[in-house]
Formats: sequence, structure tokens, C-alpha cells
Amino acid sequence: MQISVLDTAQDVADQAAGLLIAQVENKPDSVLGLATGRTMEAVYQAVVARAAHRFGHARSFNLDEYVGLAPSNTASFHHYMTTHFLMHLSPSMINATIPDGQAQDLDAEARAYEHSIESAGGIDFQLLGIGVNGHIGFNEPGTPFSSKTRVETLAHATRRANAPQFASPTDVPTHALTMGIGTILGARKCVLLATGGQKAAAVARMVEGAASTDCPASCLQLHADAHVILDKAAAGALRRPV
Ligand code: F6R
Repeated sequence: MQISVLDTAQDVADQAAGLLIAQVENKPDSVLGLATGRTMEAVYQAVVARAAHRFGHARSFNLDEYVGLAPSNTASFHHYMTTHFLMHLSPSMINATIPDGQAQDLDAEARAYEHSIESAGGIDFQLLGIGVNGHIGFNEPGTPFSSKTRVETLAHATRRANAPQFASPTDVPTHALTMGIGTILGARKCVLLATGGQKAAAVARMVEGAASTDCPASCLQLHADAHVILDKAAAGALRRPV
């Protein structure tokens, strides 16, 4: 695991944007694994400002989507990706795939999603955030490292953290479709970003704890090309200097 600690959250976003842009410059038809969430907003903003025209040949798969939300729902990850990234690309990157949280048969949708990633040749570059409980994608603590795309029950901590995106905390869905940890570990490169002191404890467990399903993000210790980019606040609970 390669770890960088930068001064500010904006520095983290700029460095991640630079890595994403370099990826499509080196391989225009890259298969990208994309994430949503507050941490990623500044990343997409920086990518759009610097290189929106570079993504015409890339293909993307998002990590996750809430079960039951229509793409038009402003809290859905479909809506997030459209407004923060996809609508700003020129020429538009039509090859963006996001799990269908409204699928009639969610298990079949999960299997088909996994198959689509494999058919695309696997993910070249996976962007990741981390939850306060150490989740990646929506793989909550206890998820086996071999897991594939599937329906996950959201942890209480996750539903509470994501409640501000919904009109009421009770509107937060209880389930999501998510790539599995095995799916994520299958990516050729993983880049995880964390900013803010509220992520410091999860970051310390990911980096300095044992690789354990108690902290899903600790699986990255087992990945051959994982880069973790932190701001000073998110690195605040690390015991060993980076
Ligand atoms: C989002 C995702 C999640 C988030 C994580 C951090 O697609 O997979 O794992 O990356 O919950 O979210 P923020 O950045 O909102 O703190």
C-alpha cells in the first residue's frame, strides 16, 4: 500500500484527478471503476475542469447504487454521476454503467454486472472512498474478501452518514447493490481517498490494523498496486509517520 499525506482535501482531489487523467492519457480505452460520495465531488470537478475531452473512449463501472431508487431520484448514484461527471464530458462518455437498483431480479442484475466487468476485460483503475466504519463500495464490516457484486444490507453507521442526501433519515434505503471486495481487488490499480478527521479512525485501521473483514478497506493491504491518498486530518490517527 503506497500512502500519501497531503495538506488539504483539495490537494487530495487534485492528485486523484491527476492520476485518473494520466490513466486515460496512457490508455484511452481504460476501464474505470468509479465511486460517488462527498469526497469524490472535488475529484470530478477537477477532472472536468482539466480534461473532460479525454474520456471519450473510456468505459466506466460504478461501485454501487441504492436499491429501489430511480435514476431521477436526486439521492441516487445515477443522478450523482450524471450531474457531477457524465453530463460535463465532451464528447460524452456514453459507456458508463451503474448498477440498476430498481432491477426486478437484483441477484440477476448483480451477476450480469459482474459479467459485464469481466467482458470489458476487468477494471484498470478503481477509485474508492472509505466509510466511517471502514467500508469500501457498500461492503460493510464482515464482508468476505472474496465477495462479488451483490445486494448488501447497509450498516446503521452508513445510513446515518448518508442521511443528509435524503429528505428524512427514514428515507435512506436499507439495501444497496455493490461490487464485492473480490471485484474491487480484481482491479489492476486501486486509488482510495480519505479526507477529514471523521475518517481518521477508519484510515488507521485500514493501514495499521490487521487485514481483516472487520475493516473492509484493509483488504487493500493485499493488493499489489493500491495507493491511499489522505489529507492531514484523515491521517491524524496514524501511529507511524508516513
Ligand atoms: C460510494 C461508495 C462509498 C463512499 C464512502 C465515503 O460510491 O462506494 O464507499 O466512497 O461511503 O463516502 P463520502 O465520500 O461521502 O464520505
